[in-house]
Amino acid sequence: MSAITLPVDDEVGVAAFSETSALLSTYKRAPMELVGGEGVELIDSDGKRYLDFASGIAVNALGYGDPGIARAISESLGTGLIHASNLYRTAPGEQLASKLVERSFASKVFFCNSGAEANEGAFKFARRWARKIGTDAKVEIIALRGSFHGRLFASLAATDRPSYRAPFRPLAGAVSICERDIGDLDTALDEETVAAVIVEPIQGEGGVRVLDADFLGRLRALTEKREIALIFDEIQCGLGRTGYFFAYENVGIVPDMLTLAKPLAGGLPMGAVLVSEEIASTIQAGDHGTTFGGGPLLAAVAGYVVDRLSDPSLLKAVRENGTWLGGELDVIARRSGKVRAIRGTGYIWGLDVVEPANEIVKRGWDEGLLALTAGEHTLRILPPLIMGQDDLRRGVNILEKIISQ
Ligand SMILES: Cc1ncc(COP(=O)(O)O)c(C=O)c1O
Repeated sequence: MSAITLPVDDEVGVAAFSETSALLSTYKRAPMELVGGEGVELIDSDGKRYLDFASGIAVNALGYGDPGIARAISESLGTGLIHASNLYRTAPGEQLASKLVERSFASKVFFCNSGAEANEGAFKFARRWARKIGTDAKVEIIALRGSFHGRLFASLAATDRPSYRAPFRPLAGAVSICERDIGDLDTALDEETVAAVIVEPIQGEGGVRVLDADFLGRLRALTEKREIALIFDEIQCGLGRTGYFFAYENVGIVPDMLTLAKPLAGGLPMGAVLVSEEIASTIQAGDHGTTFGGGPLLAAVAGYVVDRLSDPSLLKAVRENGTWLGGELDVIARRSGKVRAIRGTGYIWGLDVVEPANEIVKRGWDEGLLALTAGEHTLRILPPLIMGQDDLRRGVNILEKIISQ
């Protein structure tokens, strides 16, 4: 039994934190202690099982106990080379980069260790390129209202969450937030001063807001005309979650850079920046770096994960089940009268709920369901991409119960 016995409080998706823990209290954790996982379920220290509608915040796309991940790890360990540093060539990283290049618009890939790092890297690459094609004034990074791009100083400056930002000012300079409005962007995107715009095709933390193809298309046209780099942050919505390997494939709009992380290495920490040929050609040795990025163990696992997540039958199932799931959530909304709006696609959905979403998440724990919030009144669900319709149905039934209570 966990030592955590304090009552839950009203934070987003969380409960009171054990005062006995030595972990710095940057998170307030749920009271149960997770000790294992199997398929699409997690198991706590009392042996209770939870159906997973959270995927470790969009990470565990292949669920728990995937034999291919175990095989990739053990084969990699068999080489004795967990890490080599980026001073030497290793095959898994080069192969993984080639796979991502083959499947995308990009000509080169930079590997790092997290989503925030991937975005910080993309900002640097954008500035490097922009200074080359423009003057030293072409440095601004613009992000959108409702965005979440990470919690380091530049990625935080590009994150539209006042409570995350205020205590840590000054944030990185020349990074600002613009409304999700093409007229406002038209004004903000000054060719002389702006290096890049960063956009989540589906804003995850900001309430699961799907940016439509028309908006993204106009933004693409503006950025192309003014020689401003368009960065898609697909850290949460990419790698199969929309039912397309990249979210941009669904809308048919191609960025200049794209950032990935969360599910990339099956739960091991890895991020990536996919870079167009034009921008890549301006990057030189020494411009950026990281000790662990793209190491052989991580890259071997990610190579397997990328193969699995680009499997057409898995992607088709996510699209079809996702359409079905959206319909079921609609039914819950109508029957319960407690849902104001539903947004999403594939296996990423947000429900605007009347009561604080956190209360519903907590009731889910009692009923054996893990779900998430995305803001105070948005319930967010991100099932593992391997979840079939029977388990989705099971989760939907629990959702209906905890929303209607
Ligand atoms: C869209 C998006 N970008 C960036 C990040 C930051 O990723 P990380 O927590 O790995 O730094 C997240 C994390 O939730 C995210 O959802």
